[in-house]
Amino acid sequence: MQPAVSSTRGLILGIESSCDETAAAVVREGVEVLSNVIASQVGTHSRYGGVVPELASREHLQNIVPVVRAALEQAGCSLSDVDGIAVTEGPGLAGALLVGVMYAKALAFALEKPLIAINHLEGHIHAVLLETRKQQKNLPQPVLALVVSGGHTHLYMAEEFQSTWRYKNIGRTVDDAAGEAFDKVAKLLGLGYPGGPWIDWLAQHGDGRAIPFGPIHVKQKPYRAAHQQTPGLQFSYSGLKTAVLRHVQSRSMEAAIEIRRAALAALPNAKPADALALCDADTLNLIASFQRTVVEDLVRKTFTAAEAMHAASIVVSGGVAANRELRRRFCLEGEKHALPVAFPSLELSTDNAAMIAAAAWPRLVAGSFSTDRLSADPSLALG
Ligand code: KG4
Ligand code: ZN
Repeated sequence: MQPAVSSTRGLILGIESSCDETAAAVVREGVEVLSNVIASQVGTHSRYGGVVPELASREHLQNIVPVVRAALEQAGCSLSDVDGIAVTEGPGLAGALLVGVMYAKALAFALEKPLIAINHLEGHIHAVLLETRKQQKNLPQPVLALVVSGGHTHLYMAEEFQSTWRYKNIGRTVDDAAGEAFDKVAKLLGLGYPGGPWIDWLAQHGDGRAIPFGPIHVKQKPYRAAHQQTPGLQFSYSGLKTAVLRHVQSRSMEAAIEIRRAALAALPNAKPADALALCDADTLNLIASFQRTVVEDLVRKTFTAAEAMHAASIVVSGGVAANRELRRRFCLEGEKHALPVAFPSLELSTDNAAMIAAAAWPRLVAGSFSTDRLSADPSLALG
């Protein structure tokens, strides 16, 4: 039996450990972020150019207690003040997720507080809903949500139903996620990790039309989203990644890339601006053209889906939602279609625990809690 909500403070402690950030946050009533602490593991994984699951689990184990303590301290509250413990159940790396889930379960059991399991993708959507609630803006429903991160390029129809949210998956990637493509192309070009912010920054200095990568067509038959009559929309970025590689080979850019990689590796804390002097015009044009192609594909398919599904507004979330060009193009297209488009704040675009605590608020209100049988689910689906 789960305990009932014992107080009316509306404080939820959120815990997130699905990938390479150990995060904890205290959020009041799904709106007010009292603290949002993130221990990033970028330093650990950057030398490998990607997340090493075993190392991620070990770092989560080291970080979880200090991160939760810091979140409570910054929020000015103690464990006994919180009304519920929310944790990311999945999707993500099994060992990484387990650290957060086990710690949250132990806290909930010891404190006799409700335990609320949250899907990481739902968390990303609530990073936007948190902002809109804060600004007292009402997003017209149904909402079409694009979750675009290192692991996902997924489209959902989202609707509030009796104070909780319901999701229906209507699109997904068939190979690389958009963020993964940013990371792999950045690695291929000798840039830092994660690649998204590097490409975002450097693309401003290139011509996105210089290399005419065409629109991305997915050859597979459209899938039918589970239990729905809706043909699923598909994204694919592995072909574009190969086209970038072909361009590199045809222009014999390999030697310059290795010089750039070595020069950046020699800097103690390399930033995208450090790479500018190490990139010639062709490289900058390649970076900008790659970004333009991904952004145009995301915009085109999202607005096609919005029209087909009669969406009344669009939400774009996940790490790639921090991309400047993506925000600009989505806003322009939104104006053209008279469809409101909302994003999370930059801080809440990438992984954090405030979005997990925010997503848990409607569940706390509805009394929809998890049992002590909760475990990590690395391939947990939404909708
Ligand atoms: O949501 P997130 O923090 O973690 C996952 O759930 O995957 O997303 C991380 C991804 C990485 O692939 C990273 O390169 C990408 O988001 N990213 C960006 C930007 N900032 C982060 N991609 C493009 N432009 C950015 N500014
Ligand atoms: Zn994420």
